[in-house]
Parts: sequence; C-alpha cells; structure tokens
Amino acid sequence: MLSQLMITEKSKPISPSTPDFIPLAVPAIQGNEWRYIKECLDTNWVSSVGPFVERFENAIAAQVGTRFAVATVNGTAALHVALLLAGVKPADEVLVSTLTFIAPVNAIRYVGAWPVFIDADQDYWQMEPSGVVDFLERGCHWQNGALHNRLTGRRVSAIIPVHILGHPVNLDPILEIARKYRLKVIEDATESLGAMYKGRRVGSIGDIAAFSFNGNKIITTGGGGMLATSNEEWARKAKHLTTQAKDDPIEYIHSEIGYNYRLTNLLAAMGCAQLEQLESFMAAKQRIATRYAEGLQGLPGISTMKEAPWASSVWWLYTILIDSSAFGTDSRGLMRSLSSRNIQTRPLWQPIHLSEAHKDRNQTKLPIAEKLYLQALSLPCSAGLTEEEQSRVIEEIRTIAASASSGEIPCN
Ligand SMILES: Cc1ncc(COP(=O)(O)O)c(C=O)c1O
Repeated sequence: MLSQLMITEKSKPISPSTPDFIPLAVPAIQGNEWRYIKECLDTNWVSSVGPFVERFENAIAAQVGTRFAVATVNGTAALHVALLLAGVKPADEVLVSTLTFIAPVNAIRYVGAWPVFIDADQDYWQMEPSGVVDFLERGCHWQNGALHNRLTGRRVSAIIPVHILGHPVNLDPILEIARKYRLKVIEDATESLGAMYKGRRVGSIGDIAAFSFNGNKIITTGGGGMLATSNEEWARKAKHLTTQAKDDPIEYIHSEIGYNYRLTNLLAAMGCAQLEQLESFMAAKQRIATRYAEGLQGLPGISTMKEAPWASSVWWLYTILIDSSAFGTDSRGLMRSLSSRNIQTRPLWQPIHLSEAHKDRNQTKLPIAEKLYLQALSLPCSAGLTEEEQSRVIEEIRTIAASASSGEIPCN
C-alpha cells in the first residue's frame, strides 16, 4: 500500500522500441491526414491563416452543437481565453475539479485568479456536484451584487467542471447553482470530445468549452485546441484575443493585450482529417472498454470503469482501480509488472490540491480524489489497439494477479 499521497520516487519510462511494446494511447492516422496536409504544402497555406482553420472550426462547432468554435494552439490556451471571456479577474476564485490534469488550474492562475478545489464522485470520478453546492451555499455569502468566499473574502466568478477520461460531469446541479449565483460555467471538455450528458454533447452545455487535440486525445493535431460557444460576442472576442488583439486588418493597431494562440492551417488540416474518423475512434474505444470490463471481471481487487445512467462516455483513457489488499499489489506495483512485460500504463494525476504548484493550505481533505489517485491505473487503449494486443494486456494482468495474491509481488 502506498503510505503517502506524495509519490517521490521518479518512475523509469520504458523504451517503446521493442516490437511487442504496447503503448498507452497513440494516434491513429488512417484517413485524409496526408492528403490535407499535402494540400497546405502545395498551396503554401501553412500558417494560422488558411481554409482548413475555418473548416475545422465549423466542423467542431457542428459536432459539438455550438454556434461557434475558435481554434487555438492547444487546450490550455483555450482555457486561458475562456477564463478571460468569462470575466474572471485577478484575485477572483474559480471552482475546479481537483482530480484533473493540471492545465485548467494553471489557466486559472494565468488570469491571476485562485482555484477552489472540488472532490471527485465515488462512482464516475468526476467533479462532485454536492461539493460545488456545499461550498457555494455554506462557504460563501452574497455581498455587493456578487458571491464571496466567507473565508478569503474573494469574489467567486466561475466553475470549471472537467469531464475527465471521456466521461461527462453531472452538470445539471452545477448549472442550476451557477445560474442562481450568476457564475460562468467553463466546461473543460478536452478529454471528452463526443461524450454526451443527457443526450447533449459535452462542450455545448455550459457558457463556453475547451477542447484539446494533443497527441493522446481522441482526435489529434499533434498539438491543438478549440473553444466552443454559442455566444457570438465571445466567439468574436476569442478570435481577436487569440490573434494578438489586432484591431485593423492591415494596420498594426492594438487596444488591448492579446495572445499568439491561433492554430496553424497545417494542424487544422490534420484536425479535419481526424474529425472525419471520430465516429470510428469512438466505436473502437467503446469496444476496448467492453472487452476490458469482460476480461477483468471477477479479478479480486480490480474495479473497472463505469458509465453513469445519464452519460454516454467516449472511454477516452480506460482506467481501472486496484484495491491492493484484495489484489495483492497496488496500482504502482501493477504498473511496474506490466512495464517489465512491455506494456505501458499510467497512474492518474496527483490531485491538484496536493501538488506543490497549487497546494491549498486552507483546503480540507478531498478523500475520494486522494483514494482514486492511489488506486487508479490507465491501461492501453489507443483506437488502433488490436484484439490480440488487448488480450495480451488482460492475460498479463491475470497472471500478475495470480502471483500477487500468492505474495510474489511486494506492495509499496
Ligand atoms: C483535463 C485537461 N485539461 C486541459 C488539457 C490541456 O490541453 P493541451 O495539452 O492541449 O494544452 C488537457 C490535456 O492535455 C487535459 O487533459
């Protein structure tokens, strides 16, 4: 059992050069990527102006179900701009999931605001709505037309529910309280393109959403991001801010601080080709999830990922929980054993309220995220993972389970 929540030992990455190596999540480049990128090279449209940028934006808006989408260099930049558009000011507070990749919390700090961390729910590991409601109703008070944290006195201005691992957050209670206290909701949908909440695509439900197309996402442009919103004024402003806030098409005149955050035509071309394959990637992820659930069923100490009744998950990064007392070793022990068999797996993120970068000394314990952090392990789940490869992963886990239960693999 891991005795502490700060894991100090640095992991040794395994080399992907062996022929039987099974990676965690790699892109599937099987469609029009080469053709569209060649078209950019042939026509000389390679930078952030070019027909593929607009085409990719329109295609994402149509997919997500928002009126507008604005392409960005990456998902973190999209979150940064979303916070600016939402009117989050320095010294404000923003509620955010603690069990997340660090990017949304970093973005909160980029605008000078402070994160308030919300625990995960036990079943689906997403931002727990009752934690949001509890903090806003009990921990805050209404003063001078805005909500303020009773403890810090700071204004609370927005909520970032992060749809982690391809599964949506239970948004309705969060939207309801956000409306009550006039808070903006920024969906971090970077890991969940294609997922649905009560029949609606994630990214179309809050005030604005961010997507990411980095290398391990369900569709990739190598690096890239997108803002999605139905607010026309925000979409116009997003384009302005992401292009150095240039006021005139010819003259270099600027009335505010902007950013060089636009996606290039080359990468947007790749995005268009990848988006054409989203349905097949989603089908592959669903198949992988079903096979893991069946293949690992009944193994003592292993819990597989669940889908809420109100959710349609895209199973972006298939993750299991390992209860070391029943399994015989913990998540890191299993990771090391699989690594020695050339299978790459990864733990989840250290909950951000514990990270040195954002440690919050006022924060009480967030026990569910802390437990999930110790127990979770993400398994290979690239859209291109073959049935044989997945069977090998399952078989190896079963073999490790047998030796762990006989005490051959030591726990941490
Ligand atoms: C939850 C979450 N938010 C934000 C990001 C940031 O996206 P990017 O890497 O494109 O900046 C990522 C992914 O990397 C993510 O997983």
